[in-house]
Formats: sequence, C-alpha cells, structure tokens
Amino acid sequence: MKILTVLGARPQFIKAAALSRALKSHTKIQEIVVHTGQHYDPQMSDIFFEELFIPKPDFFLRIDRISSHATMTAQAMEGIEKTILDIRPNALLVYGDTNSTLAGALAASKLHTPIIHVEAGLRSFNLSMPEEINRIITDRISTLLFCPAQKAVDNLIKEGFEGFPSKFFLSGDVMIDALYYYSNFMRKPDIPIQKEFALATIHRAENTDNQSKLIEIFSALQSIAQNTQVILPLHPRTSKMLALYGIDSKNITLAPPLSYLETVWLLKHSKAVLTDSGGLQKEAYFFKKPCIILREESEWSELIEHKCSVLAGSKKEKIVYVFNHLSQLFSQKFFPNLYGKADASRIIAQTISNNL
Ligand code: UD1
Repeated sequence: MKILTVLGARPQFIKAAALSRALKSHTKIQEIVVHTGQHYDPQMSDIFFEELFIPKPDFFLRIDRISSHATMTAQAMEGIEKTILDIRPNALLVYGDTNSTLAGALAASKLHTPIIHVEAGLRSFNLSMPEEINRIITDRISTLLFCPAQKAVDNLIKEGFEGFPSKFFLSGDVMIDALYYYSNFMRKPDIPIQKEFALATIHRAENTDNQSKLIEIFSALQSIAQNTQVILPLHPRTSKMLALYGIDSKNITLAPPLSYLETVWLLKHSKAVLTDSGGLQKEAYFFKKPCIILREESEWSELIEHKCSVLAGSKKEKIVYVFNHLSQLFSQKFFPNLYGKADASRIIAQTISNNL
C-alpha cells in the first residue's frame, strides 16, 4: 500500500517525524514524501530533517516562495497532482492546516485519491484565519480523519460528519508522541540565557501583518523583559515585519529560528510561554508551563477550559497583567492525557492499515 505524504511547513516535519516511524513498522505500507517547499530556509526546513532523522523527501516542489496564498496553493496543487499521477498512491496523507495541507487535499480529491487528515476536527471559529479555511475544507473532503482530542471529535459530529461517508477517529496527538520521544535529545541553544526566562514566539499573519497589534505585543514583551528575560526566536515573517514597521525590540533576546531540539530545551526550562502558535500551546502543556496565548481564540480549546493556557489577545495591558498573575490565572493542577498517551502514531498507522 503506497501512501503519499505531503509536507511543507515546520510543524509538519515534527508530526511526520513521529508518524513516519510508526508507518515504517507496517511492512504493508510504503510511505513516499513530497515537500512542497512552503518553508525553505535551512533553519525552517533542512535542520528538522537532519536533527529528527526524517528521511529526505522523495519529491521537492519548486513553488514560488514569496507569492500570495492563492499562487502558493495553486502551484503546490499542480506539483502534487503530477506526483500523484506519477506514483499512483492508494492514499494521500496531510497534516494540520497549512496551505500545503489544503493543496494536497484538493489535488487528491480531484483525482479521487483517498485523503488521510492527521489533526482533523480543530476549529478556532475565526474564518479570517487562512488556517481555519484550510482545516474546514480539508476535513470535509478527507476519507480518514484523525482527531487529536475529544473536542475535535465533537466539532466533527456537530458539523454532521456522522452522516458523511468519511470515517473519523480519536487518535491523540502525534506532536505529543514527538515530544515524548525527542525530549530525551533536547539541546541547549547557543544564546545568552539567564536563570529565569520566558519563551515567546510570534508568527501568525493576524499579528505580524497588523502594525498596531505587533506594536502592542512588542511593547508588552519589552515591559515583561524589564524583570524577566524574554527569549524570542524570530520567524522570517516576523523579522521582515519588525523591520518594515521599525518596531523596537532592544530589551528582548532575539534569536534566529531555532531547531526543534533547541526549542524543546527552552520550553522545558522556561518560566512561562507567550505565543500565537498552536503547536507551542501543547508543548507548554506537556511541560506543565503556563501558556499565554497572543490571540483572541484558540483551536486547542481544552487547554483554555482547563486553564493550562489563557487567551491574552494582543493588547499590552492584558498580556502584562496575565504574565504578572500566573499563579492566580492558571490551574496548578495537571490534566493528563488530553492528547492521548503518546501512542497516537501507533494508533493512526494501525487504523490506516486496517481501513485502506
Ligand atoms: C505557515 C502556516 C501556519 C503555521 C506556520 C508554521 C499557512 C497559511 N500558514 O505560516 O499555519 O503555523 O507555517 O511556521 O500555511 N518565509 C521565509 N522562509 C521560510 C518560510 C517562510 O522567509 O523558510 C517567509 C515567506 O516567504 C513569507 C512568510 O515567511 O513571506 C510567511 O511564510 P508562510 O509559509 O506563508 O506562512 P507561515 O507564517 O510560516
């Protein structure tokens, strides 16, 4: 059974590191990987393949890397369609909610190739996010859907998936599998680190491409940095926008995009995490760190409900307030197994093998 996996952006390399290993243990499954080229800087892509021992992609698409979402998605679709026609897989596997996910799902659906969606059923209910559109469409046209948490299953049921021909499963989250395995190999990054620090990441278009929001967020980080070191590995988009808007970041410890093993080290040793990333919210939960979400909503709603994460939005005053009240606003209790028992990859590989 041939499975064609589509990868393109940083979090997908991490998810693949966990699931590809599980797929390999099924002798009847042969996985072939196509990289769309959505993330292309060595620090955003190559380092993940090297460090996590992910086999090099079998196909690498040359999409226009600084184009609009529509052009990027269309070019990835064209390349994926050719790859499907070339290797004729039994199914196409996509992860998460990026433009590469949508491109893969659309290309496969038009060729009647079954689609496996890992990380299905998540909803932020904010249709202005490109990721929300990508999730909804990918879920609707998928054949096998793997939900990382019960809430994701509930979302699909509410949308009527029980009446659709597709099948959905509660598998747990492959990112937790990856963390569980790779945290044994974490590495201290080569940047100045004080005893107590907060880890921050910002890359969502809704924050980076909105000048007043980005100014507010950086002003909050500057304020926090007066008492606690703030370490911020910079996504290329954020770096570009800081320069464009002329935003001051002088008290903040800026770093280039870090590798996964370095990020895991920072997470484990941080006092708190401030982020607009979905992946980091779960990674903070895994290490029992308070996570301040620099957004108005989160698709990982169970973390908010259990007070493992708190929504702080992009206003300086609120962000600083939440940071200064960690012990009051966050739960002191740990809620285990919200995302499975680090066995999601095994469950997904077995279910694929049984259902295709
Ligand atoms: C994408 C995903 C987002 C995911 C994130 C993980 C979409 C819509 N968004 O966002 O869901 O959380 O990846 O990081 O698919 N760039 C570089 N070098 C790179 C990669 C990107 O300079 O290696 C630049 C691009 O040219 C572009 C900007 O960064 O100007 C944004 O990149 P893009 O891939 O469009 O989206 P992300 O913000 O990374």
